[in-house]
Amino acid sequence: MRIFLVPALIFLSLAIIVLFENGCRRDDAKDEQRESVMPVVPDTVWWGWNHYQIPDYTEEGKQIRYGYQLIANTSYYLGPKGTVAAITNGMNCQNCHLNGGIVPFGNNFGKVFSTYPLYRARNNGVQDIYMRINDCFERSLNGKPLGKSSPEMQAIYAYIKWVGDGVPKGKAYKGTSLAKLKPLDRAADPQKGHIIYEATCERCHGADGAGLPNTDATGYVYPPLWGQNSFNDGAGLFRIGSMAGFVKNNMPLGTIYKDPQLSDEAAWDVAAFIVSQARPKFDQSADWLVLSKKPVDVPYGPYVDSFSAQQHKYGPFGPIQLAQAAVQNK
Ligand code: HEC
Ligand code: HEC
Repeated sequence: MRIFLVPALIFLSLAIIVLFENGCRRDDAKDEQRESVMPVVPDTVWWGWNHYQIPDYTEEGKQIRYGYQLIANTSYYLGPKGTVAAITNGMNCQNCHLNGGIVPFGNNFGKVFSTYPLYRARNNGVQDIYMRINDCFERSLNGKPLGKSSPEMQAIYAYIKWVGDGVPKGKAYKGTSLAKLKPLDRAADPQKGHIIYEATCERCHGADGAGLPNTDATGYVYPPLWGQNSFNDGAGLFRIGSMAGFVKNNMPLGTIYKDPQLSDEAAWDVAAFIVSQARPKFDQSADWLVLSKKPVDVPYGPYVDSFSAQQHKYGPFGPIQLAQAAVQNK
């Protein structure tokens, strides 16, 4: 049994005991009493196996281990000085898929094996896990795709499958991928974000956003947030909503979703500052061809509505959402 189910089961058994003791008849006095003995509703977010649990003693386990290493130390194998090939920008998958992709609201892999292949509007069609992984290679790592049958791709696949083991087909538990924050009533403000950045982020990611390379320059101690070595403008994190959701629950480093350091407002503004900076370009002419399925925060047209690219980049998103709903209800 997966560990995250245990609290839910304990809760359920307690609820049953309490119900039986009180009988099932509605009785207001007893209801009050019941509330005071009920445990707080348990957290049902998903968290994954961690790499200490990989079954290294089997052949399959060795492949999963290699997949884990490729996620955690992508640059060592596939970065500019990669030992296998030089096809990525020096970042690691784990820079964004924290701790090997098992952290709640840390862009984890908890729903990948259970929900793919699936239709993705960005690609205008059904995408399998291999294609999704290569999307991150080409955009988030500003690199080249891996061959489907390469040992590296097969290992990453095996690891993602193992991480999602036990998640029922079709299921996406709470806490998988990124949180969606409530949009602000105003446009997110890069200048306010700059002040937050200086106070909260700059000591690691640098005033120029270039991060801090490790001593032998095979990867980063602190990854770049913008500039030529960062993810390109076709990456998911370039959309302000994804960036704000990631930062709120995971940054500054050490933050977890239960104890965020930034307000929603600060997360939107610092995200605005990061996405206002220059980064590599990606040819996105074939993305989002079905305009009605294009998310509001994709920062380039064309759109179904007549709002500017600027407003799609920074908000306010409320008026855009209303206009899009009106188009869809026609
Ligand atoms: C710059 C940050 C970044 C890096 C680096 C990165 N990714 Fe991603 N990845 C994302 C974001 C953002 C998403 C989309 C999350 C969302 O929209 O819910 C994503 C989505 C995914 C998904 C689909 C998740 C889902 O639940 O649908 C997979 C699989 C994935 N990435 C694999 C990888 C692999 C493998 C690497 C390394 C080769 C990698 N990523 C590197 C940011 C990154
Ligand atoms: C104490 C150092 C530290 C501070 C402070 C910090 N970060 Fe990070 N950040 C990291 C590290 C390290 C990673 C990569 C995590 C990993 O590989 O496990 C990261 C990853 C990221 C990423 C995803 C990877 C990338 O390069 O795009 C973003 C975005 C990010 N941080 C934004 C921020 C923002 C915004 C702040 C301020 C609110 C911040 N960070 C503060 C250390 C820090």
